[in-house]
Amino acid sequence: MSNDIWIFGYGSLIWRPDIEFQKKSIATLNGYVRRFWQGSHDHRGTPEAPGRVVTLIEQPNAQCIGMAYLVDPALIQATYENLDYREKNGYERYDVKLTLENGDAVPALTYIAPPGNFAYLGDAPIRDIAQQITVSHGPSGANKDYLLELAQILRQMNIHDDHIFELESLVLANLGSTK
Ligand code: SIN
Repeated sequence: MSNDIWIFGYGSLIWRPDIEFQKKSIATLNGYVRRFWQGSHDHRGTPEAPGRVVTLIEQPNAQCIGMAYLVDPALIQATYENLDYREKNGYERYDVKLTLENGDAVPALTYIAPPGNFAYLGDAPIRDIAQQITVSHGPSGANKDYLLELAQILRQMNIHDDHIFELESLVLANLGSTK
């Protein structure tokens, strides 16, 4: 068991993991919140007009719930290469400790875009963040779809996230008002 390698996803890695895994479990990471504070130059925006995607921000007593994937040790190097490329826009690998749905505490790896990285945007008024997500597009598609997919899967997993659901409402209102 001690050789188990878990990868924790809290954003697109929940709804589009695109990695081979042996099993998955809803998991809790203590001390972090999920925030749309990372700029996206390569997936949901461009360097000239960045979109916004999620990163994890340290916050005492907070929790972020996401999905953990158990990866075969024989595939871990290839998985890192795949994810390092996918998350190259400011994310770094972090070692963290998760609590799985069955109560097990396990070491895991997650990709976090830390404050101050070259694509970091940080906090902004929530309506400004929603507006940026409403209009941005990149090679992986519309920024709004990233948000709406994330909100939908969190709801399916019974995970409540105020930040994500507030942005979802604001973006849907923006879309309604521009139709
Ligand atoms: C993640 O999903 O865990 C990292 C951020 C992203 O790729 O959306």
